[in-house]
Amino acid sequence: MLNTRNLSCVPFVLAVALAAPAAKGQDQQTPSASDIADGMRLYEQKGACQACHGWAGDGHKSDSQMPDGANLRETKLNRAGLVTTIKCGRLNSQMPAFDKFAYSDGRCYGKKQADLKAYPIRMPDPAATLQPREIDLIVDFLMAKVVGKGPMDHAKCVDFWGSEADACKEFSK
Ligand code: HEC
Repeated sequence: MLNTRNLSCVPFVLAVALAAPAAKGQDQQTPSASDIADGMRLYEQKGACQACHGWAGDGHKSDSQMPDGANLRETKLNRAGLVTTIKCGRLNSQMPAFDKFAYSDGRCYGKKQADLKAYPIRMPDPAATLQPREIDLIVDFLMAKVVGKGPMDHAKCVDFWGSEADACKEFSK
């Protein structure tokens, strides 16, 4: 009796074993529309990324006092590279580190706070630090609406905002 029951488990165990690596191979599950909307909100508000990168991520910053951010629409970074750059910032540049513990325990490029003094350009403090989950959401948004999407135009602008937003007036139809 016991044997039969054990045997009946085999297909199930096998199915799980086979499914696990496949699921892991994907960077993440496809984000939902609400994940992307949450990421967009975090990009604009809590992270204030648009101050340096522009709302469209194209480097047309929204705050003229802020440093010029990179054009994220043309970045060559993959998902993992985007996450690391947001968590750790970019050494010797004005890209801030958004992980609260970025330079406390060597998790970022193996550096600690004291090591940062060696760089002529100091990373500014972020507007707010972000939780890993919040960074994932921002990256969901970037991958869905920004990275590799080419220059912003009228059609993409309407799609980006979900309607004929004021920001789209600058693009000819
Ligand atoms: C104070 C200005 C500033 C803010 C705020 C800022 N960035 Fe940046 N970011 C930069 C600059 C400057 C660079 C270019 C760094 C360099 O010289 O390589 C950069 C680079 C990047 C890169 C690397 C692009 C590449 O292809 O190498 C990513 C990704 C990025 N920023 C994402 C973000 C996100 C997401 C946020 C908000 C959570 C954000 N940044 C907030 C200034 C900023």
